[in-house]
Amino acid sequence: MSAYDGVTLGDRMRHHFGDSTEHLYGVLVRLLADDWDRGGVVRDVLAGHEDAPPGDMVQLRLLAGIHRVVLRGDAPELAAFYPSVGWTADRYAVWPALEPVLREHVAELRAGLEVAPQTNEVGRSVALLVGLSEAVRRTGLTRVRLLEPGASAGLNLLVDRFQFLGDGWVAGPVDARLVLDGCGGAGFVPADFEVRERRGCDLHPIDVAGPDAEAYLRSFLWPHMPERDGRLVAALATAREHPVVVDRAGGAQWVREQLASPVADGVLTVVWHSITRQYWPAPEFAAMLAAVDEARSRMPVVRVALEDPDPLPVAGSWVPQVEVDDDVIAHCTHHGPPLILAPARLS
Ligand SMILES: C[S@@+](CC[C@H](N)C(=O)[O-])C[C@H]1O[C@@H](n2cnc3c(N)ncnc32)[C@H](O)[C@@H]1O
Repeated sequence: MSAYDGVTLGDRMRHHFGDSTEHLYGVLVRLLADDWDRGGVVRDVLAGHEDAPPGDMVQLRLLAGIHRVVLRGDAPELAAFYPSVGWTADRYAVWPALEPVLREHVAELRAGLEVAPQTNEVGRSVALLVGLSEAVRRTGLTRVRLLEPGASAGLNLLVDRFQFLGDGWVAGPVDARLVLDGCGGAGFVPADFEVRERRGCDLHPIDVAGPDAEAYLRSFLWPHMPERDGRLVAALATAREHPVVVDRAGGAQWVREQLASPVADGVLTVVWHSITRQYWPAPEFAAMLAAVDEARSRMPVVRVALEDPDPLPVAGSWVPQVEVDDDVIAHCTHHGPPLILAPARLS
Protein backbone atom coordinates (compact mmCIF):
# COMPACT_ATOMS: atom_id res chain seq x y z
CA MET A 1 0.00 0.00 0.00
CA SER A 2 1.53 3.34 -1.02
CA ALA A 3 1.64 5.72 1.87
CA TYR A 4 3.68 8.48 3.49
CA ASP A 5 4.70 7.50 7.01
CA GLY A 6 1.97 4.85 7.04
CA VAL A 7 -0.88 7.23 6.15
CA THR A 8 -2.29 6.79 2.64
CA LEU A 9 -3.11 9.63 0.31
CA GLY A 10 -6.71 8.41 0.44
CA ASP A 11 -6.77 8.82 4.22
CA ARG A 12 -5.19 12.26 4.09
CA MET A 13 -7.78 13.31 1.52
CA ARG A 14 -10.66 11.84 3.57
CA HIS A 15 -9.67 13.67 6.75
CA HIS A 16 -8.56 16.99 5.26
CA PHE A 17 -11.58 18.75 6.76
CA GLY A 18 -11.54 16.68 9.95
CA ASP A 19 -14.79 14.80 10.27
CA SER A 20 -16.92 17.66 8.99
CA THR A 21 -19.44 17.00 6.26
CA GLU A 22 -21.14 20.32 6.85
CA HIS A 23 -20.02 21.68 3.52
CA LEU A 24 -19.51 20.40 -0.01
CA TYR A 25 -15.73 19.89 0.28
CA GLY A 26 -16.14 17.84 3.48
CA VAL A 27 -18.31 15.44 1.48
CA LEU A 28 -16.22 15.61 -1.71
CA VAL A 29 -12.97 14.59 -0.03
CA ARG A 30 -14.66 11.49 1.40
CA LEU A 31 -16.11 10.51 -1.96
CA LEU A 32 -12.78 11.10 -3.71
CA ALA A 33 -10.98 9.07 -1.04
CA ASP A 34 -13.48 6.21 -1.29
CA ASP A 35 -12.96 6.12 -5.06
CA TRP A 36 -9.18 6.19 -4.59
CA ASP A 37 -9.45 3.25 -2.14
CA ARG A 38 -11.47 1.16 -4.59
CA GLY A 39 -9.13 1.94 -7.52
CA GLY A 40 -11.54 4.17 -9.47
CA VAL A 41 -10.85 7.16 -11.68
CA VAL A 42 -9.38 9.14 -8.76
CA ARG A 43 -6.60 6.54 -8.61
CA ASP A 44 -5.80 7.36 -12.28
CA VAL A 45 -5.90 11.09 -11.72
CA LEU A 46 -3.55 10.88 -8.72
CA ALA A 47 -1.23 8.21 -10.16
CA GLY A 48 2.37 9.02 -9.27
CA HIS A 49 1.42 11.16 -6.27
CA GLU A 50 0.70 8.30 -3.85
CA ASP A 51 3.84 8.95 -1.81
CA ALA A 52 3.68 12.75 -1.87
CA PRO A 53 4.47 14.29 1.52
CA PRO A 54 1.49 15.77 3.41
CA GLY A 55 2.72 19.32 2.83
CA ASP A 56 2.23 18.94 -0.92
CA MET A 57 -1.53 19.11 -0.33
CA VAL A 58 -2.32 16.93 -3.33
CA GLN A 59 -5.97 16.90 -2.27
CA LEU A 60 -6.21 20.71 -2.48
CA ARG A 61 -4.60 20.70 -5.92
CA LEU A 62 -7.25 18.22 -7.10
CA LEU A 63 -10.15 20.15 -5.55
CA ALA A 64 -8.91 23.34 -7.23
CA GLY A 65 -8.65 21.60 -10.59
CA ILE A 66 -12.25 20.40 -10.33
CA HIS A 67 -13.41 23.84 -9.16
CA ARG A 68 -11.72 25.39 -12.21
CA VAL A 69 -13.75 23.19 -14.55
CA VAL A 70 -16.92 24.17 -12.66
CA LEU A 71 -16.14 27.90 -12.67
CA ARG A 72 -15.59 28.05 -16.41
CA GLY A 73 -18.98 26.41 -17.01
CA ASP A 74 -17.79 23.06 -18.36
CA ALA A 75 -19.60 20.95 -15.76
CA PRO A 76 -23.16 22.27 -15.43
CA GLU A 77 -24.51 19.23 -13.58
CA LEU A 78 -21.70 19.34 -11.05
CA ALA A 79 -22.01 23.13 -10.76
CA ALA A 80 -25.45 22.60 -9.21
CA PHE A 81 -23.64 21.46 -6.05
CA TYR A 82 -21.17 24.38 -5.84
CA PRO A 83 -22.19 27.31 -3.60
CA SER A 84 -19.52 29.42 -5.37
CA VAL A 85 -21.69 29.47 -8.50
CA GLY A 86 -24.85 30.00 -6.56
CA TRP A 87 -26.23 26.50 -6.47
CA THR A 88 -27.20 24.48 -3.44
CA ALA A 89 -28.12 20.94 -4.53
CA ASP A 90 -27.87 18.24 -1.86
CA ARG A 91 -24.13 17.64 -1.46
CA TYR A 92 -24.64 14.03 -0.43
CA ALA A 93 -25.94 13.33 -3.95
CA VAL A 94 -22.89 14.77 -5.74
CA TRP A 95 -21.02 11.63 -6.84
CA PRO A 96 -23.04 10.83 -10.03
CA ALA A 97 -22.35 14.40 -11.21
CA LEU A 98 -18.69 14.36 -10.17
CA GLU A 99 -17.45 11.06 -11.55
CA PRO A 100 -18.08 11.85 -15.26
CA VAL A 101 -16.28 15.20 -14.81
CA LEU A 102 -13.27 13.39 -13.39
CA ARG A 103 -13.29 10.95 -16.31
CA GLU A 104 -13.58 13.72 -18.93
CA HIS A 105 -10.80 15.86 -17.47
CA VAL A 106 -8.15 13.38 -16.33
CA ALA A 107 -5.35 15.08 -18.31
CA GLU A 108 -6.25 18.58 -17.13
CA LEU A 109 -6.66 17.50 -13.52
CA ARG A 110 -3.33 15.68 -13.60
CA ALA A 111 -1.61 18.76 -15.05
CA GLY A 112 -3.08 20.84 -12.22
CA LEU A 113 -1.38 18.57 -9.68
CA GLU A 114 2.03 19.76 -10.85
CA VAL A 115 1.58 23.29 -9.49
CA ALA A 116 1.44 24.07 -5.77
CA PRO A 117 -1.85 25.63 -4.71
CA GLN A 118 -1.83 29.28 -5.79
CA THR A 119 -4.08 30.35 -2.97
CA ASN A 120 -3.30 34.04 -2.66
CA GLU A 121 -5.32 34.51 0.52
CA VAL A 122 -5.45 38.15 1.52
CA GLY A 123 -6.82 37.31 4.97
CA ARG A 124 -3.23 36.28 5.74
CA SER A 125 -2.21 39.93 5.55
CA VAL A 126 -3.38 40.25 9.17
CA ALA A 127 -0.39 38.07 10.10
CA LEU A 128 1.86 40.38 8.10
CA LEU A 129 0.38 43.38 9.87
CA VAL A 130 1.10 41.98 13.31
CA GLY A 131 4.57 40.80 12.26
CA LEU A 132 5.44 44.11 10.62
CA SER A 133 4.30 45.97 13.72
CA GLU A 134 6.57 43.78 15.83
CA ALA A 135 9.47 44.33 13.40
CA VAL A 136 8.97 48.09 13.58
CA ARG A 137 8.90 47.98 17.38
CA ARG A 138 12.06 45.87 17.56
CA THR A 139 14.08 48.04 15.19
CA GLY A 140 12.57 51.48 15.72
CA LEU A 141 12.41 51.83 11.92
CA THR A 142 9.13 52.70 10.22
CA ARG A 143 10.12 52.94 6.56
CA VAL A 144 9.92 49.48 5.03
CA ARG A 145 11.13 47.60 1.98
CA LEU A 146 8.81 44.59 1.72
CA LEU A 147 10.01 41.46 -0.08
CA GLU A 148 7.84 38.37 -0.54
CA PRO A 149 9.05 35.06 -1.97
CA GLY A 150 6.16 32.74 -2.90
CA ALA A 151 3.89 35.74 -3.43
CA SER A 152 1.52 34.18 -6.02
CA ALA A 153 -0.25 37.31 -7.41
CA GLY A 154 1.43 39.56 -4.82
CA LEU A 155 -1.83 40.63 -3.17
CA ASN A 156 -0.51 40.56 0.39
CA LEU A 157 2.24 43.02 -0.58
CA LEU A 158 -0.57 45.60 -0.48
CA VAL A 159 -1.01 45.17 3.28
CA ASP A 160 -0.87 48.93 3.86
CA ARG A 161 -3.83 49.46 1.51
CA PHE A 162 -6.17 47.13 3.43
CA GLN A 163 -8.20 48.02 6.50
CA PHE A 164 -8.24 45.70 9.53
CA LEU A 165 -10.91 45.64 12.22
CA GLY A 166 -9.72 43.79 15.29
CA ASP A 167 -10.80 43.20 18.84
CA GLY A 168 -10.34 46.71 20.29
CA TRP A 169 -8.06 47.97 17.50
CA VAL A 170 -8.28 49.24 13.90
CA ALA A 171 -5.55 49.67 11.28
CA GLY A 172 -5.28 50.80 7.67
CA PRO A 173 -6.94 53.40 5.47
CA VAL A 174 -10.63 54.12 6.06
CA ASP A 175 -11.29 54.21 2.31
CA ALA A 176 -9.72 50.79 1.66
CA ARG A 177 -11.49 48.59 -0.87
CA LEU A 178 -10.69 45.56 1.25
CA VAL A 179 -11.86 45.61 4.85
CA LEU A 180 -10.88 42.57 6.91
CA ASP A 181 -13.15 42.32 9.90
CA GLY A 182 -13.15 39.87 12.77
CA CYS A 183 -9.35 40.12 13.02
CA GLY A 184 -9.38 39.30 16.76
CA GLY A 185 -5.98 39.88 18.38
CA ALA A 186 -7.23 41.49 21.59
CA GLY A 187 -4.39 43.56 23.01
CA PHE A 188 -2.65 44.10 19.68
CA VAL A 189 -1.37 47.64 19.06
CA PRO A 190 -0.68 48.28 15.35
CA ALA A 191 2.52 50.21 14.63
CA ASP A 192 2.77 53.02 12.08
CA PHE A 193 4.86 52.12 9.05
CA GLU A 194 5.32 53.26 5.48
CA VAL A 195 5.98 50.75 2.70
CA ARG A 196 8.63 52.46 0.55
CA GLU A 197 9.26 49.53 -1.82
CA ARG A 198 7.54 46.23 -2.39
CA ARG A 199 8.31 43.30 -4.65
CA GLY A 200 7.58 39.59 -4.78
CA CYS A 201 8.55 36.46 -6.62
CA ASP A 202 6.91 33.14 -7.35
CA LEU A 203 7.67 30.01 -9.37
CA HIS A 204 4.33 30.67 -11.10
CA PRO A 205 3.47 34.35 -10.65
CA ILE A 206 -0.06 35.42 -11.50
CA ASP A 207 -0.56 38.65 -13.43
CA VAL A 208 -3.61 40.31 -11.86
CA ALA A 209 -4.24 42.20 -15.11
CA GLY A 210 -4.52 38.95 -17.07
CA PRO A 211 -7.97 37.89 -18.33
CA ASP A 212 -7.98 34.58 -16.42
CA ALA A 213 -6.38 35.75 -13.17
CA GLU A 214 -9.57 36.13 -11.15
CA ALA A 215 -11.07 32.78 -12.18
CA TYR A 216 -7.77 31.02 -11.63
CA LEU A 217 -7.32 32.49 -8.15
CA ARG A 218 -10.96 31.75 -7.30
CA SER A 219 -10.47 28.08 -8.15
CA PHE A 220 -8.27 27.74 -5.05
CA LEU A 221 -10.89 29.23 -2.74
CA TRP A 222 -13.21 26.82 -0.98
CA PRO A 223 -16.68 27.20 -2.46
CA HIS A 224 -18.40 27.20 0.92
CA MET A 225 -16.50 30.34 1.99
CA PRO A 226 -18.05 33.20 0.01
CA GLU A 227 -16.44 35.79 2.29
CA ARG A 228 -13.06 34.81 0.82
CA ASP A 229 -14.43 35.45 -2.67
CA GLY A 230 -15.41 38.98 -1.69
CA ARG A 231 -11.97 39.63 -0.21
CA LEU A 232 -10.27 38.40 -3.36
CA VAL A 233 -12.35 40.65 -5.60
CA ALA A 234 -11.58 43.69 -3.41
CA ALA A 235 -7.88 42.87 -3.26
CA LEU A 236 -7.68 42.38 -7.03
CA ALA A 237 -9.29 45.78 -7.55
CA THR A 238 -6.68 47.28 -5.21
CA ALA A 239 -3.86 45.52 -7.07
CA ARG A 240 -5.08 46.76 -10.44
CA GLU A 241 -4.97 50.33 -9.10
CA HIS A 242 -1.62 49.82 -7.39
CA PRO A 243 0.29 47.20 -9.40
CA VAL A 244 3.05 45.25 -7.69
CA VAL A 245 5.90 43.43 -9.40
CA VAL A 246 6.07 39.67 -8.89
CA ASP A 247 9.14 38.17 -10.58
CA ARG A 248 9.18 34.64 -11.93
CA ALA A 249 11.85 33.07 -9.76
CA GLY A 250 12.60 30.51 -7.09
CA GLY A 251 12.48 32.01 -3.62
CA ALA A 252 16.00 31.47 -2.24
CA GLN A 253 17.95 32.80 -5.21
CA TRP A 254 15.58 35.75 -5.54
CA VAL A 255 15.83 36.73 -1.87
CA ARG A 256 19.62 36.56 -2.10
CA GLU A 257 19.59 38.84 -5.17
CA GLN A 258 17.15 41.31 -3.64
CA LEU A 259 19.18 41.55 -0.46
CA ALA A 260 22.29 42.22 -2.53
CA SER A 261 20.76 45.55 -3.70
CA PRO A 262 21.54 48.48 -1.48
CA VAL A 263 18.76 50.03 0.54
CA ALA A 264 18.46 53.65 1.72
CA ASP A 265 19.68 54.43 5.23
CA GLY A 266 17.05 53.91 7.89
CA VAL A 267 14.92 51.62 5.74
CA LEU A 268 13.94 48.30 7.28
CA THR A 269 13.88 45.30 4.94
CA VAL A 270 11.14 42.83 5.81
CA VAL A 271 11.23 39.42 4.13
CA TRP A 272 7.70 38.06 4.41
CA HIS A 273 6.38 34.67 3.36
CA SER A 274 3.12 32.84 3.99
CA ILE A 275 1.95 29.24 3.53
CA THR A 276 4.72 28.55 1.06
CA ARG A 277 7.51 26.89 3.11
CA GLN A 278 5.96 23.43 2.80
CA TYR A 279 6.21 23.59 -0.99
CA TRP A 280 9.91 24.47 -1.13
CA PRO A 281 12.65 21.87 -1.21
CA ALA A 282 14.11 21.96 2.33
CA PRO A 283 17.61 22.99 1.12
CA GLU A 284 16.11 25.92 -0.78
CA PHE A 285 14.27 27.13 2.29
CA ALA A 286 17.46 26.80 4.35
CA ALA A 287 19.32 28.80 1.70
CA MET A 288 16.72 31.57 1.94
CA LEU A 289 17.14 31.72 5.72
CA ALA A 290 20.91 31.82 5.26
CA ALA A 291 20.59 34.71 2.78
CA VAL A 292 18.53 36.68 5.32
CA ASP A 293 21.01 35.96 8.10
CA GLU A 294 23.94 36.92 5.92
CA ALA A 295 22.27 40.27 5.09
CA ARG A 296 21.86 41.19 8.76
CA SER A 297 25.43 42.46 8.97
CA ARG A 298 24.77 44.87 6.07
CA MET A 299 21.27 46.21 6.75
CA PRO A 300 18.38 46.05 9.19
CA VAL A 301 16.35 43.03 8.11
CA VAL A 302 13.58 41.07 9.80
CA ARG A 303 11.87 37.92 8.57
CA VAL A 304 8.11 37.76 9.12
CA ALA A 305 6.16 34.62 8.28
CA LEU A 306 2.84 32.88 8.53
CA GLU A 307 3.60 29.22 8.11
CA ASP A 308 2.48 25.81 9.21
CA PRO A 309 4.64 24.17 11.86
CA ASP A 310 7.70 22.43 10.45
CA PRO A 311 7.68 19.47 10.28
CA LEU A 312 4.02 19.20 9.41
CA PRO A 313 2.05 16.54 11.28
CA VAL A 314 1.42 13.56 8.97
CA ALA A 315 -2.26 13.48 9.96
CA GLY A 316 -4.63 15.65 11.94
CA SER A 317 -4.98 19.39 11.99
CA TRP A 318 -2.63 22.15 13.07
CA VAL A 319 -2.60 25.91 13.51
CA PRO A 320 -0.35 28.18 11.44
CA GLN A 321 2.05 30.39 13.35
CA VAL A 322 3.15 34.00 12.91
CA GLU A 323 6.93 34.10 13.11
CA VAL A 324 9.18 37.11 13.57
CA ASP A 325 12.70 35.84 13.00
CA ASP A 326 12.91 32.88 15.42
CA ASP A 327 9.94 33.85 17.62
CA VAL A 328 6.34 32.70 17.30
CA ILE A 329 4.33 35.79 18.23
CA ALA A 330 0.79 34.78 17.27
CA HIS A 331 -1.40 32.17 15.61
CA CYS A 332 -4.25 32.48 13.15
CA THR A 333 -6.14 30.31 10.69
CA HIS A 334 -4.91 29.31 7.24
CA HIS A 335 -7.11 32.07 5.87
CA GLY A 336 -6.08 34.72 8.37
CA PRO A 337 -8.50 36.04 11.00
CA PRO A 338 -8.95 35.64 13.85
CA LEU A 339 -5.57 36.36 15.28
CA ILE A 340 -4.52 34.98 18.67
CA LEU A 341 -1.49 36.66 20.18
CA ALA A 342 1.04 34.40 21.90
CA PRO A 343 0.85 34.82 25.71
CA ALA A 344 4.20 36.66 25.83
CA ARG A 345 2.74 39.37 23.54
CA LEU A 346 0.00 40.09 26.04
CA SER A 347 2.19 40.64 29.09
C1 LIG B 1 -0.36 28.50 -1.02
S1 LIG B 1 0.42 29.67 -2.08
C2 LIG B 1 0.60 31.04 -0.97
C3 LIG B 1 0.69 32.35 -1.70
C4 LIG B 1 0.84 33.56 -0.79
N1 LIG B 1 2.08 33.49 -0.07
C5 LIG B 1 -0.33 33.66 0.17
O1 LIG B 1 -0.18 33.27 1.32
O2 LIG B 1 -1.39 34.15 -0.22
C6 LIG B 1 2.08 29.03 -2.20
C7 LIG B 1 2.89 29.74 -3.26
O3 LIG B 1 4.26 29.39 -3.12
C8 LIG B 1 4.81 29.31 -4.43
N2 LIG B 1 6.05 28.54 -4.35
C9 LIG B 1 6.20 27.22 -4.08
N3 LIG B 1 7.50 26.88 -4.08
C10 LIG B 1 8.21 28.00 -4.34
C11 LIG B 1 9.60 28.31 -4.43
N4 LIG B 1 10.51 27.37 -4.26
N5 LIG B 1 9.96 29.58 -4.71
C12 LIG B 1 9.02 30.54 -4.88
N6 LIG B 1 7.70 30.31 -4.79
C13 LIG B 1 7.29 29.06 -4.52
C14 LIG B 1 3.70 28.66 -5.22
O4 LIG B 1 3.87 28.82 -6.61
C15 LIG B 1 2.47 29.36 -4.67
O5 LIG B 1 2.15 30.52 -5.37
